[in-house]
Amino acid sequence: MTLPGAPYLARDAGELRLEGHSLAELAARFGTPLYVYSRSAMRDAFQAYERALQGRRHLVCYAMKANSSLAVLQTFVQAGAGFDIVSGGELARVLAAGGDASRVVFSGVGKTRAEMRQALQAGVRCFNVESASELDTLNAEALALGCRAPVSLRVNPDVDAGTHPYISTGLKGNKFGIAHDQAVAAYRHAAALPGLHVQGIDCHIGSQITQLAPYLDALDRLLDLVEEVEAAGIPIHHVDVGGGLGITYTDEMPPAASEMVRALLQKLDTRGHGHRELLFEPGRSLVGNAGVLVTEVLVLKPGQVDDGGKNFCIVDAAMNDLMRPALYEAWMRIEPCVQRAGVVPHTWDVVGPVCESGDWLGRDRRLAVECGDKLAVLSAGAYGMAMASNYNTRPRAAEVMVDGSRVHLIREREDVRSLFAGERLL
Ligand code: LLP
Repeated sequence: MTLPGAPYLARDAGELRLEGHSLAELAARFGTPLYVYSRSAMRDAFQAYERALQGRRHLVCYAMKANSSLAVLQTFVQAGAGFDIVSGGELARVLAAGGDASRVVFSGVGKTRAEMRQALQAGVRCFNVESASELDTLNAEALALGCRAPVSLRVNPDVDAGTHPYISTGLKGNKFGIAHDQAVAAYRHAAALPGLHVQGIDCHIGSQITQLAPYLDALDRLLDLVEEVEAAGIPIHHVDVGGGLGITYTDEMPPAASEMVRALLQKLDTRGHGHRELLFEPGRSLVGNAGVLVTEVLVLKPGQVDDGGKNFCIVDAAMNDLMRPALYEAWMRIEPCVQRAGVVPHTWDVVGPVCESGDWLGRDRRLAVECGDKLAVLSAGAYGMAMASNYNTRPRAAEVMVDGSRVHLIREREDVRSLFAGERLL
């Protein structure tokens, strides 16, 4: 059986190991719930984009919303990545991790004036602007600071990314981007504003995309616009195709990053746009399969299965630690950290202790488990810790990064007192 996350995640003599480190041992040392990441897996995933783009003007901007822990960002800074941010908070994190604002693109459908000023002062590479109103506000803020804001317009190409409706963003009915048929007017408007400097065009059509066709369709739509906008006398320097490449959670077979990049480069070339700088904003495909969430079995609660009941395996990680199953009904593989001989497997719903029926991590999973066993939720490196909350006053998990023979605690387990430190009694 190949595990998603291979080659760094492997079962060896019954023990699940990440870069050779036993997940059960890491759980015993650092406690659970525990996120564990492989630094090599992150680096490899980034290098796959870089290698495919060699010899081309390009910038791969890690969409840090997928996992914004400082050591993860530092890993990408050292690998030479740029960053795609969506808030002033994310900009502060990039800078704290040693990143360079000139390699940052600022996305997001609702930026505040304060965030615009912060990003202008830091000197971000580009603002991905999503509406005419945002152009006006950004223009005013740039003029007030005596500078010009570099802008790209995020166009909604109206293509179906074929993914979950909550993470599909490139269709007409989505809140994102400027409608394709309004884009030329928006470019004319931008070019006329003295505080703006048009740099590029961008789109992002969704997440966990497993087909090439939507990317190619979206790029065609962008290039049509580039041609129209340039014919109107407004030069476009870069084309940013966003992120969205899927990973394998179960049996999905997304194209490899290299294959996706090659197909896009080929389209650029055949349409005569090969000279343009190409930007990417991958999140999940850089970190998703580099991480696991390790949790301990607290309670086994068998049900009257022949009477519509269910068997519940209650673990110490919950929807607050990993929201994807509850929010998107996402299927994430669950594996015992140590395989059990002599325990009869049953079909379990793996659920957390939070007081919601939606608090589940996996349903109908065949597992041989006993109380105290450790389970690993795989492919949890993206949108796991980054979406964690303190619901039920649960401190957020600790995070560990393994790197060859080294083990780094990159985030301490949250302390309960810090959860209400900013609160005041009447
Ligand atoms: N660029 C923009 C403008 C985005 O909005 C996103 C993700 C990305 C890039 C990176 O997309 P990726 O390569 O990671 O697919 N929480 C959801 C995913 C939400 C994605 C939001 N935008 C999940 O857990 O599936």
